[in-house]
Amino acid sequence: MRILKIIFLITGIILLSSCGETKEKKKKFSYERKHNSSSNLKEVNDNNNNFIKASETIDLINKGFGPVKDIDLSEEINSSMANRGSELFKKYCTSCHKIGKKFIGPPPNKILKRRTPEWVMNMIINPEQMIKKDPLAKKLLIEFNGAPMANQNISEEQARSILEYFRTLN
Ligand code: HEC
Repeated sequence: MRILKIIFLITGIILLSSCGETKEKKKKFSYERKHNSSSNLKEVNDNNNNFIKASETIDLINKGFGPVKDIDLSEEINSSMANRGSELFKKYCTSCHKIGKKFIGPPPNKILKRRTPEWVMNMIINPEQMIKKDPLAKKLLIEFNGAPMANQNISEEQARSILEYFRTLN
C-alpha cells in the first residue's frame, strides 16, 4: 500500500509539473505572436529596420545598382512625360503592380517619399542585380515571398517616364 501511495504521489507531481510547463509554453507562444503582429503595425521608426516591412522602409540615400546615377526632380512634373509613363506602366507593370494596393509586388504610390529616384529607376531597369546586391531590394524579395521584380526590358528613357508618372501618384 505504501508503495502504491508513493507511486501515486510521484505521478501526481510529474503530471502537475508538466501541466505547469505547457502553460508556461503557451504563455510564451502567445507573447511571441503578439509581439510579431505588433511589429507589423507601422508604428516603429525606420531606425529599427527589424520591425518595419521592407516595402515601408524609408531610404532616401541609397541609389541602388545600375546605370542611373543622378536624377534631378527639381522641375515641375512634366505631364506629357507622365502620361507616356502611365501608358508604359499599364502595358508592362500592372500584371504585378496595382495602384493603391499590394498585389504581386508593392503599390508604387508615394514611392518617392520612400526611395531615391535613382533607386526606383535602377530597380526598373536592372532588377536582377538589384535583388542580388542591394540590401533593400533583397529584403523586398523576402517580404514578397521570393517573387522577384521582373526585368521588362525597359529602356532608361522609358523608365524615366514611368518615374515621372510615379511622381503623380499619392
Ligand atoms: C512579374 C511581376 C512583376 C512585373 C511585371 C513588374 N514587377 Fe515590379 N516588382 C515585383 C515584385 C514581386 C516586387 C517586390 C519584390 C522584389 O523587389 O523582388 C517588385 C518591386 C518593384 C519596385 C520596388 C517597389 C518598392 O516599393 O520599393 C519597383 C519600383 C517596381 N517593382 C517597378 C516596376 C515597374 C515600373 C514595372 C513595369 C515596367 C514592374 N515593376 C513590373 C514584380 C513585378
